[in-house]
Amino acid sequence: MTIKYPQKVIINEVGPRDGLQNEDQTITLEDKINLVNLLVKSGLKSIEAGSFVSPKWVPQMADSLELIHALKLHNDNDVTFSALVPNLKGLASAVKSRVPRIAIFASASETFSKKNINCSIEESLDRFTEVVLEAQQHNLQIRGYVSCAFGCPYEGEINIKNVVFVCEKLLQLGCYEVAISDTNGVGTPEQTKLIIEELSESLPIDKIAMHMHDTRGRAIENIQIALSYGISSIDASVAGLGGCPYAPGSSGNVATEDVVNLLNDLGIEHGINLQKLISTGNLISKILKRKNSANILQQAKAPFQGLLPIDSDNTDA
Ligand code: HMG
Ligand code: MG
Repeated sequence: MTIKYPQKVIINEVGPRDGLQNEDQTITLEDKINLVNLLVKSGLKSIEAGSFVSPKWVPQMADSLELIHALKLHNDNDVTFSALVPNLKGLASAVKSRVPRIAIFASASETFSKKNINCSIEESLDRFTEVVLEAQQHNLQIRGYVSCAFGCPYEGEINIKNVVFVCEKLLQLGCYEVAISDTNGVGTPEQTKLIIEELSESLPIDKIAMHMHDTRGRAIENIQIALSYGISSIDASVAGLGGCPYAPGSSGNVATEDVVNLLNDLGIEHGINLQKLISTGNLISKILKRKNSANILQQAKAPFQGLLPIDSDNTDA
């Protein structure tokens, strides 16, 4: 296979949603607004800020309407905010918030689908058909996720054909791209190659994005493989925040800092100021009283550690 790294990569920052949805402690609206504004200042252009799901299921996202309102008031630049939408009720809130992009999320695992959105895969695709038709009336961009593409926390192995099926369906519905999601972070480099090769039999590579949780510490290797196939849309979460409340034992998404570091190593453009991003990751980690889990901050001799102490105030971010 010929390696064809993209010249430029778009990083979809999912920390404010995928990260904060999984925190036990409450984070104030003010801290969320500050976090997203700092991410914008770091140069991120695609930010998933919240979700319009049931607050009984995910209480941490209950203030998404207020958050997105506030962000839109303060950001008139070329950043695209998005929010998860599971059904028509969620779409009505998204429309009210005036968020320009929504994300719908189906699964390649029946059990995960039931646990996460309380319906089968087929029912979810029917629901998302209605959501997409309505969203198109409001000129919203629509992104898709296919969860459990690399394995399921309940079922274990997942047939690759289910992944391809759900991915194709989401694209047929009208998603501009689908994020192939390693929900519980179990994917291996071999599996990453297999999935991408299988998907690219029927789909253009520019319709595929990667959403890799880092439970087993292999997300960066897997992302490098995806890049080598020309994939240029990568999800990441500042400071490696988060996980999914309905995927027990899963850790956060790959740290944005580590993806930027990888892109720097490969000479791929990304438009992000790593120093500001590290400061932002340190700040939110401090607020959440957790360790910043970006790997570039864990290495004893990493230059960034001396430059930006993990407990710094980061007021200049
Ligand atoms: P349900 O209980 O079957 O819904 O939940 P329902 O239609 O029967 O309604 C029950 C109640 O919820 C009603 O209220 C509805 O109004 C309300 P009540 O009459 O009892 O007071 N309700 C809502 N409220 C606000 N917003 C809504 C909404 N919908 C219904 N949109 C539902 C079905 C889909 C709503 C629920 O299962 C849910 O919200 N699930 C979301 C779970 C979630 O957010 N998971 C984490 C995000 S996915 C993820 O992290 C994976 C991803 O990162 C990719 C990867 O890593 O794999 C994307
Ligand atoms: Mg996720």
